[in-house]
Amino acid sequence: MKTIADLAAADDGRGLANKRVFIRVDFNVPLDKKTGAITDDARIREALPTIRFAMEKGAKVVLASHMGRPKPGKKEGLSLEICGARLAELTGWEVHVPEDCIGDAPKKVIQDLRPNQVCLLENLRFHPEEEADDEAFARELAELCDIYVDDAFGAVHRAHASVHALPLQVRNRAAGFLLERELKALGRVVHNPEKPFVAVLGGAKVSDKIDVVESLLAKCDVLVIGGAMANTFLAAQGKKMQKSLVEQDKLPLARTIIEKARDRKVKLLLPVDLVVAEGVDASSGTVVASDAVPEGQMALDVGPKTVDLIKKELVKAKTVFWNGPMGLFETKAFADGTLEVARALAKIDGFTVIGGGDSAAAVKVAGEDVVKGIDHISTGGGASLELIEGKKLPGVAALEGA
Ligand code: 3PG
Repeated sequence: MKTIADLAAADDGRGLANKRVFIRVDFNVPLDKKTGAITDDARIREALPTIRFAMEKGAKVVLASHMGRPKPGKKEGLSLEICGARLAELTGWEVHVPEDCIGDAPKKVIQDLRPNQVCLLENLRFHPEEEADDEAFARELAELCDIYVDDAFGAVHRAHASVHALPLQVRNRAAGFLLERELKALGRVVHNPEKPFVAVLGGAKVSDKIDVVESLLAKCDVLVIGGAMANTFLAAQGKKMQKSLVEQDKLPLARTIIEKARDRKVKLLLPVDLVVAEGVDASSGTVVASDAVPEGQMALDVGPKTVDLIKKELVKAKTVFWNGPMGLFETKAFADGTLEVARALAKIDGFTVIGGGDSAAAVKVAGEDVVKGIDHISTGGGASLELIEGKKLPGVAALEGA
């Protein structure tokens, strides 16, 4: 797979000069539900090295992204204008957002681009053809580019037009620096993790993580399971979880995973204690043993003894992959398990990777020092899990053989 640096090196280093370089970014940033303001601009910041590089090489930069999952005909609150404004704030560039991502409006903007100006196309998903991987729609996008660069790691697992059909139509195509970095870091975890390899999984549902658990069982030495998904495993061991979230239909699956871990000599670490309360709205909790959840109570975090056991495994690890919080970390009373794991991870010498989504958000809550202590925090939740599962990602496959 080529990178943008390879394309720039062509023509004695003038490979991008005066070319329309179409960069697929993932500006699908979280927005505040009430105000609509950006709550975390990491995805915009992380794309800057590639965009800057293209600008410095004299390219006419065309950025394209999706935002949210708009229903047909519904655009409200999902315009990329807000990301354009943030990009302008971060860089000082003039960012033009034409009213549509295809047709005459973007063509005109791109034609008139001058140094220090970039074009950010409007939300690709305002056209249902984007998610349908539609060839004709991709052809219209192809009219806007001489060179295609994919830097949208968070979206490479989607076979959508701007990620899949489009690059296949552009001869000069390559990965951006963010995509390259993500593939290297996650590739190190998937292909040759230095041992001991500890995987930490959390989050709400076992059903969301079956494939990733299967894949990790073949590679890791210790599998830590926390968060609400641990409840299903504890219930499968016969523990009474009372009001805790348990996927009853996944109990047989949890038993199979427990057996597989035993057969493969993977140490499965489940919570030995829990922080429980009456419900998700509670503002405080009580620590109990995991086989002593009181009637009417539910598990909302892992307890301190469990945190100590996890830390003991982490300090020995040479590779750690973490995805999914250990509890309801958005509520202060139930955040300790998740934040303690984040802090412990930041201190160890081993190679540490966080697989995007909620765990990435939790690390940020833990503070700047913790963020700095982690080797790689992925910008893609779903994409990083699919990579760990060993799946071929459509956006990556479309860049190969260029
Ligand atoms: C993400 O937020 O994980 C990516 O931007 C992909 O978004 P999607 O899940 O709506 O395809």
